[in-house]
Amino acid sequence: MKTLVIGTGGREHALALSLSRDETVTEVHVAPGNPGIGAFATLHDVDPMDSDAVAALVADLAVDLVVVGPEAPLVNGIADVIAERTGVAVFGPGRAAAQLEGSKAFSKEVMAAAGVPTAGSRTCTTTAEYEAALDEFGAPHVVKDDALAAGKGVVVTLDRAEALAHAEACGRVVIEEFLDGPEVSLFAICDGAAAYPLQPAQDFKRIFDGGKGPNTGGMGSYSPLPWADPGLAAQVIEEVVNPTLAEMGERGAPYVGCLYVGLALTKTGPRVIEFNCRFGDPDIQPVLALLDSGLGGLLHAAATGTLEKVEPPRFRDGASVTVVLASAGYPESSTKGDLITGVGAANGVNDVDVIHAGTALGPDGLVTAGGRVLAVRAVGYDVADARARAYSAADLISFDRMQRRSDIAAEPLGVMEGASLLD
Ligand code: AMP
Ligand code: GLY
Repeated sequence: MKTLVIGTGGREHALALSLSRDETVTEVHVAPGNPGIGAFATLHDVDPMDSDAVAALVADLAVDLVVVGPEAPLVNGIADVIAERTGVAVFGPGRAAAQLEGSKAFSKEVMAAAGVPTAGSRTCTTTAEYEAALDEFGAPHVVKDDALAAGKGVVVTLDRAEALAHAEACGRVVIEEFLDGPEVSLFAICDGAAAYPLQPAQDFKRIFDGGKGPNTGGMGSYSPLPWADPGLAAQVIEEVVNPTLAEMGERGAPYVGCLYVGLALTKTGPRVIEFNCRFGDPDIQPVLALLDSGLGGLLHAAATGTLEKVEPPRFRDGASVTVVLASAGYPESSTKGDLITGVGAANGVNDVDVIHAGTALGPDGLVTAGGRVLAVRAVGYDVADARARAYSAADLISFDRMQRRSDIAAEPLGVMEGASLLD
């Protein structure tokens, strides 16, 4: 099977790496990719937001499967364009189904219609509506920009004035009930009608240790979750994913791809914080490290509506931990062009992969080129072992004013990130 992965970051690096290690996959192409991916796959300098150019590349390469990594091209309709122009199987939802991430209001409406457990919410556009909703749900306040905002559209705060100011700045927002409990990422591989869950993961969203500071795209992750109910994935498929797939099917927008279910495990059970229309990064990285069955066949079956013909994904024993190395200023800004050393040494450690998220090749070698620069992923016997391996490999890497958390996957596990907000 010839495959093409679309995107530039850590998620795409991890996906391409798993595909390259799948014996049924003969070729891995990535557009545009990054220097880390270029070490083992063929890169093509094509912009993911240019659906026509991507479709032309797909036809040219005559691949059997396209895997779309990021949400922006999906919301832009890349999956529809590739399917119409080339007939090649695409793992990733079409434009209409990608609205589950593209519009928070739409996703809340689908959840309500499908009876999916989630936070009570109001979609608001005027000051009077903002105020009424903030008072209805009380503090802590949760205000979400309705539009795609790369994880930066959400404010969770005890301060009503700050919540109101965020709503005013966004315009159309979803204001909702605060969900109290640890967060879990569950990735469901969907073929439009059926779904298989991957092993649950947890990511660490805040920039500083102890869950302090602003939200980021994710500073680290681990899987599995030894503290969680072993029946969690099956429960989420039954209570969340299957009803959502049925609802999307009825709306004529069948969901094909990864449905990323962000959950809060509350005292009254798992409730959905958000849907995303793609794999989460870095949450998917440790999950893929432990996947024992082939990724190519699984994603191809989902993309062709034949999921039930392949075996459910199998995971090896042990655990995996990913630690993100970010540049100065992240998440507000990022620093570019700083020389990075030690990547080769870290990547050479047994059971470690250095995943590139924001790097570029400069005249003197690898340099920083984004907020999240690298992710160091290790596999071990259990979470503590994987964690120790990830940090000791990460210690080999340096660049100017590198930021990393020291408490990724540290005990106590399974507590609520950012609980300090409520002190
Ligand atoms: P989202 O972009 O919807 O995932 O929100 C970003 C982050 O804000 C989530 O990962 C949570 O940490 C937090 N968050 C969002 N919605 C809620 C909620 N209803 N209750 C508590 N925290 C939330
Ligand atoms: N790690 C969270 C996300 O990918 O949205």
